[in-house]
Amino acid sequence: MTADPQAATKTGYDADTVASLTADATAIMARYPDPRSGLLPMLHLVQSVDGYVSRDGILFCAEMLGITAAEVSAVATFYTQYKRHPNGTYTVGVCTNTLCAVMGGDAIFDELSDHLGVGHDETTDDGAITLERIECNAACDYAPVVMVNWEFFDNQTPETATALADKLILGEDVVPTRGAASVCSFKQMSRVLAGFPDGRADEGTGAGEPTLAGLKVARERGWTAPESPSRAEPAETGGGAAGETSPPVGTPGSSAERKPATSSDTETGKDKKPGEDAK
Ligand code: FES
Repeated sequence: MTADPQAATKTGYDADTVASLTADATAIMARYPDPRSGLLPMLHLVQSVDGYVSRDGILFCAEMLGITAAEVSAVATFYTQYKRHPNGTYTVGVCTNTLCAVMGGDAIFDELSDHLGVGHDETTDDGAITLERIECNAACDYAPVVMVNWEFFDNQTPETATALADKLILGEDVVPTRGAASVCSFKQMSRVLAGFPDGRADEGTGAGEPTLAGLKVARERGWTAPESPSRAEPAETGGGAAGETSPPVGTPGSSAERKPATSSDTETGKDKKPGEDAK
């Protein structure tokens, strides 16, 4: 199937689905020197069609990449973002990592679990919500955080999270605290994760005031990060004495402008043994 997209498939997909999946998967595979590297986005592509990594989706990926279904399954079962059963329209992820947990994440999860009647990685009977405990989403400054299809809902409480879930179940629009102006479906999100942008990546504010608070204080006080010792160059290479800070990359006097100092700077195409320059 790799060479001929129209070749017979063992999947149960209809012809139109095979044609569109094949076109998208071919585009994904073309992004990589080794087409097999496209498996991860291809699994998201399958989820954008089936709502989970289905048996047909596994066979499709295997046929496209010329690998076994077992090899595809081995990857799909390793990562929690790949679902082995139909996902809800919305994944509601409650961060229960350390900071969010102590700030109320555990209480939010317990309340949602009771309210929805489902546990971790389980889906409500109406197919609206799959509830998950999730790991840190680098939004600790807004703890506790709830994600809906990976959009941020910051500074949540059991009450606000429950109200959010109720709106999702009723099909009402919800507005993330930051980032995109709306929440798309799990299938739409999966297509974005497969590498087909929906144009919403730059919507809204990414880093809000709490995120930038430290930067603001540093600028007010003139603080800068200490130079890494590895960037300070010895005097004999033209970069200043050891221990001196190097100018920022790209500025006058930085390593980008360093004068040739050893034969390795000027000789090309010749393999040297370690320490040869020191002789
Ligand atoms: S611990 Fe929840 S976002 Fe970091």
